Amino acid sequence: MVAKRAIEKFSPSVFKSLILAEDKAVSLPSSKANPATIVLAGATGDLGFRIARALLKRGAAVRALVRPGNTKPEVAQLRELGAELVEVDFNSVIALTQACSGAACVVSALSGLRDVIMDGQKRLLDAAVVAGVPRFIPSDFCIDYTKLPAGSNRNLDLRREFNQRLDQAPIQATSVLNGMFTDLLTGQAPVVLFGLKRVMYYGNADQPLDFTTTSDTAEFTAAAALDPTTPRYLRVAGEVATVRGLQRAATDATGQPFKLLRVGPLGVLGVLIKVTKALMPTSDDVFPPWQGMQYLHNMFTGLPKLAPLDNGRYPEIRWTSVREVLATRK
Ligand SMILES: NC(=O)c1ccc[n+]([C@@H]2O[C@H](COP(=O)([O-])OP(=O)(O)OC[C@H]3O[C@@H](n4cnc5c(N)ncnc54)[C@H](OP(=O)(O)O)[C@@H]3O)[C@@H](O)[C@H]2O)c1
Repeated sequence: MVAKRAIEKFSPSVFKSLILAEDKAVSLPSSKANPATIVLAGATGDLGFRIARALLKRGAAVRALVRPGNTKPEVAQLRELGAELVEVDFNSVIALTQACSGAACVVSALSGLRDVIMDGQKRLLDAAVVAGVPRFIPSDFCIDYTKLPAGSNRNLDLRREFNQRLDQAPIQATSVLNGMFTDLLTGQAPVVLFGLKRVMYYGNADQPLDFTTTSDTAEFTAAAALDPTTPRYLRVAGEVATVRGLQRAATDATGQPFKLLRVGPLGVLGVLIKVTKALMPTSDDVFPPWQGMQYLHNMFTGLPKLAPLDNGRYPEIRWTSVREVLATRK
């Protein structure tokens, strides 16, 4: 009764008849005979696919929600791996509620701007609540935005806003914060410049920075999805490295000496971000160049440094070092 009132208060617009789903939905204890069902949104994406794989490896039943007509190869691959594929209209709370029924946890690995991170995840959250799913993991997977001032990073502002909503919902929420995907250091992030044999940075070369590979983040998220005792935030870093640490890792990984290249104080990066933003046409690209620069700026300030780290929570996870990742670059 209390749960029903909470749901009605949280989602007044959600149809009363759907409340019935609450009575039917149960949180199933995980066992080999009766594995926990994890509903996964974004399973066709880079991180989501790896989360699906890690969940299946751990014996979970994975229900991957995909947009109707998705023909990505990942759809067939997920099916082959043993996931249940459910085509669902992400604009319909009713459809999402049916898709969430009986799950122990809903995991979102969606990527996008306001229409996805706020609007899409809100519908998914409403659905999870009405279906009686006990736990929700939002698509955060970033530096610690809770320590950053609002307005300092567009994509992280959306996460903060969604999580404020999540905190009001009658559901147990856990965010996974992992710093920067280490994989980005082999190309997308303009930090380790392989051609010039330089590590480029702004500000302080001794500022600790958090890096976790996409795969390690997925492994950890899968373990967290199956763990009913997770706290509100879990923070991990496959490696905490300073710019000097990155220099050593690049040198070790390539066998060639890397030097440091300090472009200037952090203020210079701030100006470059403003100029890049002004010069670029407005687009709905989730990661335009200035977004990556903004992310680096945030990291170099030290404000969103992850602490304390929960790396040891699932001892079976082996964390991949920056050097190992840099060594994979062709
Ligand atoms: N910390 C870091 O350095 C870092 C780096 C990259 C990403 N991330 C984060 O990791 C998370 C996942 O990112 P990713 O790189 O794996 O993303 P991705 O590869 O672009 O995948 C996005 C997923 O979201 C789905 N999706 C997008 N818009 C949707 C919509 N409107 N309705 C339903 N599904 C939709 C896509 O489905 P379709 O197959 O239908 O398109 C796909 O499954 C995000 O939170 C992202 O910000 C963190």
